[in-house]
Amino acid sequence: MRYRPLSSNLYSKNRDRFVQAMKPGGLAVFNSNDIYPISADSTLPFAQHRDIFYLSGINQEESILLLFPNAPKPEHREILFIKKTNELIAVWEGQKLTQKQATGLSGIQTVCWLDDFEAMFETLAHKAKIFYFNTNEHYRAKVETQTREDRFIKWAKAKFPSHPNEKSNFILQKLRSVKDAEEIDQIKNAIDITEKGFRRVLPFIKPGVWEFEIEAEYAHEFLKNRSDGFAYTPIIASGKNCNVLHYIDNNKQCQSGDLILMDVGATYGNYASDMTRTVPISGKFTARQRAVYDAVLRVEKAAMELLVPGILIKEYHQEIGQIMTDELIGLGLLNQVTVKNQDPEKPAYKKFFMHGTSHHLGLDTHDYGLVDQPLHANMVLTVEPGIYIPEEGFGIRIEDDVVTQEKGPPINLMKNIPKTADEIEHLMQQG
Ligand code: GLY
Ligand code: MN
Ligand code: MN
Repeated sequence: MRYRPLSSNLYSKNRDRFVQAMKPGGLAVFNSNDIYPISADSTLPFAQHRDIFYLSGINQEESILLLFPNAPKPEHREILFIKKTNELIAVWEGQKLTQKQATGLSGIQTVCWLDDFEAMFETLAHKAKIFYFNTNEHYRAKVETQTREDRFIKWAKAKFPSHPNEKSNFILQKLRSVKDAEEIDQIKNAIDITEKGFRRVLPFIKPGVWEFEIEAEYAHEFLKNRSDGFAYTPIIASGKNCNVLHYIDNNKQCQSGDLILMDVGATYGNYASDMTRTVPISGKFTARQRAVYDAVLRVEKAAMELLVPGILIKEYHQEIGQIMTDELIGLGLLNQVTVKNQDPEKPAYKKFFMHGTSHHLGLDTHDYGLVDQPLHANMVLTVEPGIYIPEEGFGIRIEDDVVTQEKGPPINLMKNIPKTADEIEHLMQQG
């Protein structure tokens, strides 16, 4: 593997925490993702399902984790099933994990071959009272494909129709939202690689450069630093494209006088980073661009101060709405009368700032987290306000990743990534 793995101790702790939240007699199963086909014999690169990874550290396809804390035999309380390798696989794909290596990575003592899964599951199912199924219940998920997990659930329900079931996802949403120190370090590694990418592109950006050439510079820097690549499809949006929130075509040429918004993050060891910086293509902001930039920066700073344990994301967003409204009035984009007459369900600021300010970040870019519960310490969140003004041909977003603390405001994990207008102008003029 190209990344430094986290300790098996972390994965043992994660499993212990999961098991403690299970009801007596519960048996939980977690599957790897499929390798998704394109057409003919082409496939997308494998990306491990983040839940089995969180509970085992195993980054290999066709793996299954089974947790059954009340199993009569201690060796059946946690079992990992991995694909048995053979000479043909070794010749074409290289070695897969041995049972010993899988134990070393995960801390799981009982490692079986995948072929033994069905028989073992059936034996243990007779002794279990409840199945824990791992359905995808992420609040933003839109899934049309049948996953390996879905196929397993369908099979298990048909085989054992009288077993009741519970949701693993509810437990995982809670556990995964609070990060261990090792996980925060791994996110920091991803962020450090993102920083290298940003510092590389600053002097590279010039009028005439194409958005995809900038994307290529990031990709080069990320891969060179042991990242698997982008944590999400990068947004490299110049000029009016800054106002298309999910612009991913990245196929326009940069024009003098325009801004370029780059929402880009590297992964490291399956952990994501998520950064946005907006910079002037000619190396210098106009007075108007700078005024809007500084307003976004002030909102970002104020938002960070609000991310303290106990706050509800909903209250946080309301407070930011107020701060943003004041800034938009200052910029002449809103006036007092419009604000006074606004529908509280559709506040006026949303015309210029239409997305949320923060989401959890971790193994997934839009990571797990129970969004209706108060924040805790050691949650990693983004802070990403923006002001989008299609009428003026530009939009600005600034995004950092922070970790909440026991007391007071969070630590900005991206504090080393240049952000003020002066710093950015200075670095761009080095090119
Ligand atoms: N890059 C995705 C986001 O900022 O939410
Ligand atoms: Mn982003
Ligand atoms: Mn984000």
